[in-house]
Amino acid sequence: YSVCTRHREGFNLGVCNNGQCFLSYVMKENGASDLIITPATTFKEKPDPSGLVFGTVFTDNMLTIEWSLASGWEKPYIKPLENLSLHPASSSLHYAVELFEGMKAYRGVDGKIRLFRPTLNMDRMVRSARRAALPCFDQNELLECIRKLVEVEKEWVPYSAAASLYIRPTLIGTEPSLGVKKPTKALLYVILSPVGPYFASGSFNPISLWADPKYVRAWKGGTGDCKLGGNYGSSIYAQQEALELGCQQVLWLYGEDHQITEVGTMNLFLYWINEDGENELATPPLDGIILPGVTRQSILDLACDWGEFKVSERYITMSDLTAALEKNRVKEMFGAGTACIVCPISKILYKGKHLHIPTMENGPQLATRFLNKLSDIQVRCFLFFNQIK
Ligand SMILES: *Cc1c(COP(=O)(O)O)cnc(C)c1O
Ligand SMILES: *[C@@H]1O[C@H](CO)[C@@H](O)[C@H](O)[C@H]1NC(C)=O
Repeated sequence: YSVCTRHREGFNLGVCNNGQCFLSYVMKENGASDLIITPATTFKEKPDPSGLVFGTVFTDNMLTIEWSLASGWEKPYIKPLENLSLHPASSSLHYAVELFEGMKAYRGVDGKIRLFRPTLNMDRMVRSARRAALPCFDQNELLECIRKLVEVEKEWVPYSAAASLYIRPTLIGTEPSLGVKKPTKALLYVILSPVGPYFASGSFNPISLWADPKYVRAWKGGTGDCKLGGNYGSSIYAQQEALELGCQQVLWLYGEDHQITEVGTMNLFLYWINEDGENELATPPLDGIILPGVTRQSILDLACDWGEFKVSERYITMSDLTAALEKNRVKEMFGAGTACIVCPISKILYKGKHLHIPTMENGPQLATRFLNKLSDIQVRCFLFFNQIK
């Protein structure tokens, strides 16, 4: 069904409105105004962003906030990046009581630094915290702490429209005992990493996918709709098999009918002529097994604003796709996420056959339009933004 009538209200995931979360809803008392800032006095050399491997270089400082059941959230600190000291029984290490977020700060053409729709990341993070039985927090207070951290590290935001500063908020259980239970201690921290342009040459590199139902990324009633560490650690084995078979990423299937769900750690979009002969942009619905991406939402928002074709959250099976490929009804297929914005798909290995997806032959017109529009918003415009400085 078309999403354009209801998508605007659909994404805000009402948070911290159950009793359990209110118990720990105390970051306001020790919030951003209590930040203790003791920044690094020695500085690492800032790398050339074009040669960076994702997530390997970190800035000089980090944000840390400790929590305990006994005293709630402690004061937040911005201090030099340092190793953590953890009890070896910490529940994050044994039972993956852990979650993370991923967002970026961009330096605009006007020199101002901005985050892209960060309240969506904060809402998602609280929802992950609730699902992981980790403490909830006030999203606005955390966002303000992150804003301060980025301000302290502003020289690390690359002076380049193609590069950005990746922000990795993390919340881990530090319960120092082996019982499988809700942790009584936790640590929230945020580290920053400059990242280069995803498509180095400035032109798209389409990816090839391996689709095999033998591995499942997420399931109904599971945690696939939250950014919990366990979801990702357990996907590496399948990713490795994809590489061995000459494909770059996994196309995650679900159910007896081989529904197409996500690609690697990206949401998936299909632009095609659907069964009823309509031009349609389709992505699977948020039914519990799909991670609600900020990029996904932004693409749906833009497409609805344009109003040029049908925009749907709907199931797409491998047989829907193969039937459409046979009839030449597929125009473009692409992944969507913060890292690359959009990533065109050119090939799928399924049941021993290579399916050619004509994304590149078709421009890719729509993927390019989303990439340009979203990067224009990120570095040239004010829509969707929280301005930092
Ligand atoms: C993070 C993530 C995405 C993309 O989310 P964005 O908010 O757009 O970066 C998509 N799928 C999975 C499985 C993810 O972990
Ligand atoms: C921090 O940990 C890394 C990797 O475990 C180690 O190489 C490094 O020496 C540690 N730094 C300090 C200051 O202990």
